[in-house]
Amino acid sequence: MAKDPGRVLIFDTTLRDGEQSPGASLNLEEKLAIAQQLARLGVDVIEAGFPFASQGDFAAVQRIAQQVGGEEGPVICGLARASRSDIKACFDAVSPAPRRRIHTFIATSDIHLEHKLRKSRAEVLGIVPDMVCYARSLVDDIEFSCEDAARSDPEFLYEVIELAIASGAGTINIPDTVGYTTPSEFGELIAGINRNVSNIDEAILSVHGHNDLGLAVANFLEAVKNGARQLECTINGIGERAGNAALEELVMGLHVRRRYFNPFFGRDIDSPTPLTAVRTEEITKTSRLVSNLTGMVVQPNKAIVGANAFAHESGIHQDGVLKNRLTYEIVDARTVGLTDNRISLGKLSGRSAVRARLEELGYDLNREDLNEAFARFKDLADRKRDITDRDLEAIVSEQVQQPEARFLLRLVQVSCGSTLKPTATITLADQDGKEDTSSAVGTGPVDAVCRALDALIGESNELIEFSVKSVTEGIDAMGEVTIRLRRNGKLYSGHSADTDVVVAAAQAYVNALNRLVSNEGSTSLHPQLDAIGPDPLPRI
Ligand code: KIV
Ligand code: ZN
Repeated sequence: MAKDPGRVLIFDTTLRDGEQSPGASLNLEEKLAIAQQLARLGVDVIEAGFPFASQGDFAAVQRIAQQVGGEEGPVICGLARASRSDIKACFDAVSPAPRRRIHTFIATSDIHLEHKLRKSRAEVLGIVPDMVCYARSLVDDIEFSCEDAARSDPEFLYEVIELAIASGAGTINIPDTVGYTTPSEFGELIAGINRNVSNIDEAILSVHGHNDLGLAVANFLEAVKNGARQLECTINGIGERAGNAALEELVMGLHVRRRYFNPFFGRDIDSPTPLTAVRTEEITKTSRLVSNLTGMVVQPNKAIVGANAFAHESGIHQDGVLKNRLTYEIVDARTVGLTDNRISLGKLSGRSAVRARLEELGYDLNREDLNEAFARFKDLADRKRDITDRDLEAIVSEQVQQPEARFLLRLVQVSCGSTLKPTATITLADQDGKEDTSSAVGTGPVDAVCRALDALIGESNELIEFSVKSVTEGIDAMGEVTIRLRRNGKLYSGHSADTDVVVAAAQAYVNALNRLVSNEGSTSLHPQLDAIGPDPLPRI
């Protein structure tokens, strides 16, 4: 790629850095569904995972490379620490994609060098060219990151970057790993790199940042003004600790304020050409999919994708918006794909109508999945008069969580009320269809359901989050339940929707349990926290 692509490249790391959020782990089908949606959204690069972490991570990156990366599709990228074995695993995983990238990194701040890597600056200067050259011998598209760049000595950073570019890196990424920097400092860092690295014109400058001080998006926008042309971000801003810079905020910031940003791209102030290639109408759907599958609930007041982002509660505002929406609205909700939730289907709708609507919504299901979706649709239509797009999305996103299901929920029965002890009876089936039933009393119906489920699986879990929200408006709306439970210090999430919130809670709990059992015993390395091993960086 040329140094300045003339617009901002969007590098989505939801499936790598986003998935590093506690409890956000995704199975292969879920990762694939998100990657497919990211491709529809129009991101330039999908960082699909850290292939060396585990066999599961490797397999997911490889499947995404096979099925999502096309000649015209996004670049499929994998992360690798600066070690031969990481880089080789990354290459093997991304290689099915015609457009593939290896993203390798090493820390450059003194604090990381001393306490994490236990290496001198001179050693780092030896490792960088070795590893970038090795990666470049495998693929053409190499990204190199200086971990904790924002807290690194700029002079040392310049040296490292120059070497990485000379060794074949086409993208240089500057992470604010701990979310420490401020907008003007970060802008100055990017400007300094542009001024002081002699071969900087041969690479695209990228930024990556965490939101510990709530400044990630502001930092990135300042970086763009100073020449950054790739932004590494996640849907809904999910990621470790306070998360990563949010894709939807960056894209909409550049879209809504393009007259402000255009001159930084050497364009005419009124140039209508978009500053990113993202299809903004896909933003809402992508946000919901990621939230449903990761169990990371979006706060109602979250910019762009929060439930209240386009709601005008106060009477004065409503009056103003009705007279002219520009009085209190800077984004038309339709720009981000928030439709009026139009009623689409009902009890009498047939299979082909359901398929056609799902296709319009971007879900291209195979025969088997369509059969299942249709059965669920019919079941819902018996209980709910009008089925909306949101209902259909809830049905499909739930299905994606099921393929590896070890436990299947067969029956939920609860009795509760002001004079009754909340009691739940649950029947679960295993993969062979063998059923087992248990009853439990709890402090409320959901507690009783969770206790009955724990009794069935013979283990107790700590329920640490339980949230319900309605999918649509109206008395017969489906309730969406998200559950997070903890076992042995690890978090697992589950999500489900049903017109009966207790049934949704039971199914969400079962989904979390299925995730738990499929993860049990599997160890996955953390790219930044786990040691590289006794002989981490063999020279070549
Ligand atoms: O935050 C960070 O520094 C990272 C790098 C691995 C790019 O995620
Ligand atoms: Zn990060």
